[in-house]
Amino acid sequence: MNLEQTIALVSGGASGLGAASVKAIVAAGGKAVILDRDADRGVALADDLGNAARFVQTDVTDEDSVKEAVAQALSAFGRITAAVSCAGIALAAKTVGKDGPHPLEMFQKTIDINLVGSFNVARLAAEAMQANDVDADGQRGVIINTASVAAFEGQKGQPAYAASKGGVAAMTLPMARDLAGQGIRVMAIAPGLFLTPMLEGLPEAAQEALASQPLFPKRLGRPEEFGDMVRTIIASPYLNGSVIRLDAGIRLP
Ligand SMILES: NC(=O)c1ccc[n+]([C@@H]2O[C@H](COP(=O)([O-])OP(=O)(O)OC[C@H]3O[C@@H](n4cnc5c(N)ncnc54)[C@H](O)[C@@H]3O)[C@@H](O)[C@H]2O)c1
Repeated sequence: MNLEQTIALVSGGASGLGAASVKAIVAAGGKAVILDRDADRGVALADDLGNAARFVQTDVTDEDSVKEAVAQALSAFGRITAAVSCAGIALAAKTVGKDGPHPLEMFQKTIDINLVGSFNVARLAAEAMQANDVDADGQRGVIINTASVAAFEGQKGQPAYAASKGGVAAMTLPMARDLAGQGIRVMAIAPGLFLTPMLEGLPEAAQEALASQPLFPKRLGRPEEFGDMVRTIIASPYLNGSVIRLDAGIRLP
């Protein structure tokens, strides 16, 4: 799809990979609506980007909240051509740990935000995309969800996170099949290790240990590199129904 005419919803757009996606879309001439719970960061980023961005405080797990965000995006920019889901959490606990079994509520919350939230944004954005005129390639829109390499190689303490990301990866193809008739593509990105607030919270020694894991380049990913991939997926009509690993060859043990 034409990047300059892109109007994207970006969940989790106030921070990390989502904020990098917002900046990449706006730098290419498109518009972005930032959907995030975090109003301070969301408003600050939207203010920085001026008329090309809006912030709507949103909880991706809540149907009415995402419906309201879609309505505000349509009233601000007239249509939605892309939906990028980056809202997510990474809580860690073992199946049975020192303090007993994995708290069930923690498992449910992780699935709710990472998986149900991504589907909630995708389905409501896709509904709005149906009203779009098709472009020269017959496209009405594109949906990009964020999985993780943990979908394939989850680590100790990640049963909830890995299950949520496995779900994101697994729903890519059936959603692409469901929406093909409407000219809407569905893709997922499975990032390796990126330096965002999610990882910046770890002690420096842990960050250094993680940075030595990729094959090459031996460093953490830069959020701008995720933003570049989002732009590539939007612009490439032949990318559909698959999960792209963006991980410098990392295979977590
Ligand atoms: N950073 C990495 O190394 C990495 C690796 C693989 C996958 N991912 C995935 O990429 C996505 C983005 O991660 P990040 O590193 O940018 O994290 P981040 O913590 O910097 O950003 C996540 C954003 O999601 C928002 N959010 C959380 N729950 C929400 C909700 N219910 N409704 C709306 N917004 C909500 C937060 O407020 C935050 O702004 C996540 O899904 C994460 O699992 C990250």
